Amino acid sequence: MSISIVILAAGKGTRMKSQLPKVLHKIAGKPMLFHIISQAQKISNDITVVLAHQFDLVKKELENNFPNIKIHKQDIDTFPGTGGALKNLTLKSKKTLILNGDMPLVKAKSLQKLIESKAPIAMSVFELENPSGYGRVVIQNNQVTAIVEEKDATNEIKQIKTVNAGVYAIDSNLLNEFIAQLQNNNAQKEYYLTNIIEYAAQKNIAIEPIFVDSKEFMGVNSKLHLAIADEIMQDEIKTKLMNEGVLFINPKSSYIEADVRFKDECIIEPGVIISGKSVIEASHIKAYSVIENSSIIKSQIGPMAHIRPKSFIKDSKIGNFVEVKKSYLNNVKAGHLSYLGDSEIESGTNIGAGVITCNYDGKAKYKTKIGKNVFVGSDSQLVAPVTIEDDTIIAAGSTITSDVPKGALAISRIKQKIIEGFFYKFFNKKS
Ligand code: UD1
Ligand code: CA
Repeated sequence: MSISIVILAAGKGTRMKSQLPKVLHKIAGKPMLFHIISQAQKISNDITVVLAHQFDLVKKELENNFPNIKIHKQDIDTFPGTGGALKNLTLKSKKTLILNGDMPLVKAKSLQKLIESKAPIAMSVFELENPSGYGRVVIQNNQVTAIVEEKDATNEIKQIKTVNAGVYAIDSNLLNEFIAQLQNNNAQKEYYLTNIIEYAAQKNIAIEPIFVDSKEFMGVNSKLHLAIADEIMQDEIKTKLMNEGVLFINPKSSYIEADVRFKDECIIEPGVIISGKSVIEASHIKAYSVIENSSIIKSQIGPMAHIRPKSFIKDSKIGNFVEVKKSYLNNVKAGHLSYLGDSEIESGTNIGAGVITCNYDGKAKYKTKIGKNVFVGSDSQLVAPVTIEDDTIIAAGSTITSDVPKGALAISRIKQKIIEGFFYKFFNKKS
């Protein structure tokens, strides 16, 4: 059955206390709005997102990531509120599913129950011990009769623990009819979508309450909610990965973003952060390492290594306090305290402790190319652009400013001097 989906994302998100629009706040590395759109796409290809607050910014984000969805601009000055969001909207299908942009944990599977309801209106509800902040659902004789917002609720209504999760599947004609009738005579002077329930109840139209999971359908209104939702998603992500064979030691301490992919058997030690579209294949990531948007294939990373975006590391060993950025490393050892940026390093090469690629001259970035079987001595600086060819040795403590030909030794440091007996003379001591 075809269904139109509308995602409400136009609100200001005042309780978030942020410059960033609420729906662009991230969970597991992706805006909340993206999570709900991804689920919606599993159900329908007729998706409209309603925007208003910081319209241009959110629109650009959507166009860059979801070119096939429609954007509707809410006239939020004339018609503020969740009901106002649905004014002047054309709905293609007979049924409409209404979702909120601030529900990042909802899964398509759980929305099926609402979609499959035979009632002209199906609405999601859950029970909460502390229902504050949510609209209360008044149910009489198994029929929903009204939704009352917290700010409009009497003390008696506030005692109700059944709340509106904010997702509705509704006959599109009824929706259009009721939206046209909405008034803003409430505490917030807004056009509440929730009022359509009362209109329907008055006309004796069946409204089926569908009970959903309170965690999954939580609405994120504040930074505290954001942290709670993020933690729930982290649990989901790591549980799935462990079931697929990734070994986590103390999984709670690691943070894995939603788009990270794992292949073959991987070990993730405590405190690891992996972000972006990173791919980790048959690798061991040791404690407290950070990997951003990079590929790690059959390698050992860390402890305490920092792999920055666009790095590709294969068959390599990267040790503690090594930072790698936008580099290609194939069968390389870099065990300690190095910075390897904008570099290409080939098979069999050893990077000594403290080696630094000087990739930036204050104006532009340059590349360092290091060939096969190169031994780069400790504490060397490689001033880019520079190429070090195969089978070469860089002496420890060298500053390399020009290319090194195949088979050579490059050394650039002052020759060591010995001054006999200097210690005793200087400190006036006997030898
Ligand atoms: C809403 C419901 C409440 C329910 C709760 C569930 C109303 C009046 N209240 O309250 O009953 O318990 O969700 O999470 O519907 N939005 C617009 N345009 C606007 C205002 C809001 O598009 O003018 C969007 C927001 O961006 C957000 C969604 O609608 O994604 C919900 O708005 P929000 O202000 O968070 O509603 P709640 O107060 O949480
Ligand atoms: Ca909300």
